[in-house]
Amino acid sequence: MKTLKKKLILDCDPGHDDAVAIMMAGNNPELDLLGITVVAGNQTLAKTVNNALKVTQHLDIDVDVYAGNARPLVREPMYAGFIHGESGLDGPVFETLNKEARPLHAVSFIINTLMNSDEKIILCPTGPLTNIAMAMRLEPRILEKIDRIVLMGGSYGFGNVTPAAEFNIVADPEAADIVFNSGVPIIMCGLDVTRKVSCYQNIIDRMNALGNTASTLFKDMMEFYNKNQKQVFGWDGGPLHDPVTIAYLLDESILKLNHCHCEVDTNKGPSYGRTNCDLFNMQKKKPNVHVAVDIDVDRFWDIVEKCLKHYS
Ligand code: RIB
Ligand code: CA
Repeated sequence: MKTLKKKLILDCDPGHDDAVAIMMAGNNPELDLLGITVVAGNQTLAKTVNNALKVTQHLDIDVDVYAGNARPLVREPMYAGFIHGESGLDGPVFETLNKEARPLHAVSFIINTLMNSDEKIILCPTGPLTNIAMAMRLEPRILEKIDRIVLMGGSYGFGNVTPAAEFNIVADPEAADIVFNSGVPIIMCGLDVTRKVSCYQNIIDRMNALGNTASTLFKDMMEFYNKNQKQVFGWDGGPLHDPVTIAYLLDESILKLNHCHCEVDTNKGPSYGRTNCDLFNMQKKKPNVHVAVDIDVDRFWDIVEKCLKHYS
């Protein structure tokens, strides 16, 4: 029996790894990508919106792009140009951009889409959670319309922006706190698993060998991404963080999950923005997040390759 397409909204801050997530979710026969909403994060909102438009235009992904929040709910903005470059998607050269973002604000798009849908929808945030949190506060009735939130963010181990915190969470801890306490089922794809999918040169060569528009874009993006990952972290392969969310939607068996209580630290101290995951249930608090604790790495790359094959 043909399985129904999973309906999702991808909320992102492209960003090289976000761009690969867009490539995997777009033109995918198993997924119904209803829209791409964009948030500031890896770069300013203007740049992240531009990057989402460039990728979807370049790959003929017929999905609308909506601009969201330009800054976090409370804290001062932070960006990751040291990884993603000045444009937020340095490396590839794109044709002149003709595609424009829709005039509707991303938060309004999220609310309208959920409220008008007769079936639940998956939210897939791969950047700071500002848009998602604002949608929840603006229209609380959307909570019952969300099937689940499959997000890239957090870690139960160490962080990547501070020793304690991962970028997407610490870039807007208050927004993350709202989302993590919303009661909506959450699948947290944190650094603990995303750091296991390192995009080494042999992976780049494997994908590039597909010889289509998506595989060439993958190569051009990842070769730039790896240069900065080497410089900043000393790694030969940059972790392909955001695509883990899409790969999970395509094959939920690739992740091992631990349903536990997870609390975002919103105190302005050295652990600001940390996701405290009580994996051993020491505090006996109600579980609110399914934390990914392991990933089938080989299967993940097979899924990425299968997605890139959907392009000509
Ligand atoms: O910490 C990694 C996350 O921060 C990824 O989503 C990357 O794109 C950046 O947004
Ligand atoms: Ca991202």
